[in-house]
Amino acid sequence: MPANKKLLVLPGDGIGPEVMREVRRIIDWMDRRRSVSFEIEEGLVGGAALDAEGTPCSDATLARARAADAVLFGSVGGPKWDSLPFDKRPELGILRLRKELGLFANLRPAVVLDPLVEASSLKPDLVRGLDLMIVRESTGGIYFGEPRGVETMPNGKRRGIDTEVYTEDEIARVARVGFDLARKRRGKLTSVEKANVMQSGRLWRAVVGEIGKAEFPDVELEHMYADNCAMQLCSRPKQFDVILGSNLFGDLLSDLAAALTGSLGMLPSATLGAIGADGRRHALYEPVHGSAPDIAGKGIANPCAQMLSFAMLLRWSFGMEEDAALVETAVQSVLAGGLRTADIMQAGMARVGTGVMGEAVVRELDKLAA
Ligand code: IPM
Ligand code: MG
Repeated sequence: MPANKKLLVLPGDGIGPEVMREVRRIIDWMDRRRSVSFEIEEGLVGGAALDAEGTPCSDATLARARAADAVLFGSVGGPKWDSLPFDKRPELGILRLRKELGLFANLRPAVVLDPLVEASSLKPDLVRGLDLMIVRESTGGIYFGEPRGVETMPNGKRRGIDTEVYTEDEIARVARVGFDLARKRRGKLTSVEKANVMQSGRLWRAVVGEIGKAEFPDVELEHMYADNCAMQLCSRPKQFDVILGSNLFGDLLSDLAAALTGSLGMLPSATLGAIGADGRRHALYEPVHGSAPDIAGKGIANPCAQMLSFAMLLRWSFGMEEDAALVETAVQSVLAGGLRTADIMQAGMARVGTGVMGEAVVRELDKLAA
């Protein structure tokens, strides 16, 4: 029996808890069938934590996240907390975890599964076989830059300020993650910025170019303006392998890429820190979809993104490639079998809820492992 793997599970708000329940089924299954045991702690984050603990991510939760081998995160936010002051928002829960654990590289794959080709917002020919990865910087840039705030000017009018700021070290370390991934995939990295109008963009382009030349001469590097990238993603998405961008551009482009795959409900992500001297690396896994308050509690949310985030956790934090692939294949087979949650519903398919989808994936795991 392998050593225990310590997970901190933070379901959060909205559909977070209901999709997380389906992952627990997979964890139980692995316990039973693969003799892999996880030591699981559960905690509060986001609005749920605000209500119970007065803060979106308490020091205690942060300490447990630090001590865990990996964090499995649901989603945060909802209308209930929308009118709170800015420094009390549920979203600060995830931002604090990313920042304090040093999770600077957010990996967001956008893969069009064959059974879902028709669910894409684009014509099937444009997206069939699409498999790209967005690497988004996630502890810097305009999300954290100072100065920031809303202030009143001498004329009595207010002004809002955010600051996009990147040091060359911040750019270099996330660039290396992007190049490294590209090297293991199809060998192409597209780095996006707005070097035509932003100083931080100019530096971004220069540093990525230097790293490429010095350390990854075998990877094809292309620089692209972020707005052009948005357009290219909609017109010719298959030209991309790995896309590298800042916190803000990566946020925007990953939502866009998600639409290409049919639904935000399908997309997982991993957010990784640096590998420490002891070989350990902090990591957090979360679906790209948010808390989807409009459908929360109805039992209709798509659990696939959360389950696929768990697959990424197996692969990236524990090197369990075989088990990760098993979960991915099970999800794909269930879709191929015609089951659909509402967000990916198509004519002729069977519409099911969150629980039925989760059960079906576990049944499929049974079949695959038989
Ligand atoms: C994401 C989300 C978050 C972000 C929010 C919830 C703070 O949109 O993970 O993409 O902007 O990073
Ligand atoms: Mg986002």
